[in-house]
Amino acid sequence: MSLPTVNPTETNSWKKLQEHYNKINSLHLKDLFAQDTKRADKFTIKWDDFYVDFSKNRITEDTLKYLLELADEVKLKDAIKSQFSGEIINQTEGRAVLHTALRAPKSAVFKVDGVNVMPEIYAVKQKMEAFTNEVVNGERKGFTGKAFTDVVNIGIGGSDLGPAMVVEALQFYKNQLTTHFVSNIDGDHVNEVIKKLNPETTLFVIVSKTFTTQETLSNANTLKAWFLKSAPEAAIAKQFVAVSTNIQNVKAFGIDENNIFPMWDWVGGRFSLWSAVGLTISLAVGFKNFDSLLQGANKMDEHFKNEGFKTNIPVVLALISVWYNNFFKAESEAVIPYSQYLNQFATYLQQGIMESNGKSVDRNGNPINYQTGTIIWGEPGSNSQHAFFQLIHQGTKLIPADFIGFVKSLHGNQEHQDKLMSNFLAQTEALLNGKTKAEVIAEGATGDLIPFKVFQGNKPTNTIFINKLTPENLGKLIAMYEHKIFVQGIIWNIFSYDQFGVELGKQLASKILQEFNKSSTNKHDASTLNLLNYYKSY
Ligand code: F6P
Repeated sequence: MSLPTVNPTETNSWKKLQEHYNKINSLHLKDLFAQDTKRADKFTIKWDDFYVDFSKNRITEDTLKYLLELADEVKLKDAIKSQFSGEIINQTEGRAVLHTALRAPKSAVFKVDGVNVMPEIYAVKQKMEAFTNEVVNGERKGFTGKAFTDVVNIGIGGSDLGPAMVVEALQFYKNQLTTHFVSNIDGDHVNEVIKKLNPETTLFVIVSKTFTTQETLSNANTLKAWFLKSAPEAAIAKQFVAVSTNIQNVKAFGIDENNIFPMWDWVGGRFSLWSAVGLTISLAVGFKNFDSLLQGANKMDEHFKNEGFKTNIPVVLALISVWYNNFFKAESEAVIPYSQYLNQFATYLQQGIMESNGKSVDRNGNPINYQTGTIIWGEPGSNSQHAFFQLIHQGTKLIPADFIGFVKSLHGNQEHQDKLMSNFLAQTEALLNGKTKAEVIAEGATGDLIPFKVFQGNKPTNTIFINKLTPENLGKLIAMYEHKIFVQGIIWNIFSYDQFGVELGKQLASKILQEFNKSSTNKHDASTLNLLNYYKSY
């Protein structure tokens, strides 16, 4: 069975939403709150450690009703079933999409081509656990017999962003190992990391689903060459491990068979941190914490799969996002975590959201004439308040934003936490209400300055308030966004799990690379030709 192929703009609910938008788009959130004292409660979902308040959105009960009708009309329920049951929903690549299996309990059954993949998943998890323990406890040693002090994760895209974001986010739970991430083909990146390493005590984790990625292989080779300057060839077996689906290439690189952690083609790169791709996470915070992360994600999976759409967090967030993207024509969304630990969260989400839903051909193979994937960006508060918040508050663009906060801080400095949380709460309130001319005057402003001090307000936000930044809650949060991506892809009638758009640039780069050593050049546009020659002239 394949995914439904409903053009969302041809549904009844879409037409209703368009008419409804024409009626309500100028309503002010302030008035919506004044008209309905129960609004905040009506538009809040409390689930587990999550308190999700979506009342500060430019929606009414009718909006939600029509959006939910849209979810039904595009057959979202069937699509969710198809995904969880291992159907080949990544049709353009001919693959199932089962990152949810990676975090399911051992007793679950997820079948690919009729075979339950859970035993394989748990075999790899067991291998990760044993390996993690040996490294963390110092039983596994480098080539001179010393315990490991440093771990270098070599990967890019999904083989870097997820592990890097999570290791940063769970810094509080970290052990004695120092972790480094090498991703960019920019040789200065790897060389800056090398400066911090001791070859005797460094473990290298090469992560590449395909094991063909230029950046990762180049960086791995550079690190191997540096390592072999002081270590014998046999030491590679002790200090290099790999995570990949391409066992043949990994072996050809010289990695010991026992040091290969397999993954599967039914795990997309940007959804892979739950697999052995997360080995560096497990090394950094211990397998137990890694497993808690997975358990949290599994809780969100269950919520997403079983909860009615009206109170289903990823579904509601996805629908609201479609509302702004396709009716208000908002171009981007901001994600603002009020936690310094989540400073790489938006960067991580950029791949998840934009590589998945940046598509312009529908599931029937036809060009699309409506907007799809949103642009995603953000930085932690309170820093971002002193950077781009001016534009959100008083600029001309509508930027719906997710505010993510944690009730409890990890180090327990309550004075800081209260200040942080006061900012967290104040910003969404300010974005909602704005400040009227009358209020500006009442504050004492006079004359020409008055218009500059007015805030229109009516800027939409979701507040995702979570009890505490634990591995489990982080797992839930990441999975929440993964499911939001899926729901939006279903509504927009696109394939979210391929990424052909990254190929063209790669192909051209490999052609251009060859031209650097030739006197002649291939055919290029005049601009590229000039630039290429400029580079070659040095
Ligand atoms: O950028 C394209 C991409 O294929 C991503 O989807 C993927 O996460 C990344 O490259 C790395 O791929 P690999 O894990 O195969 O090295």
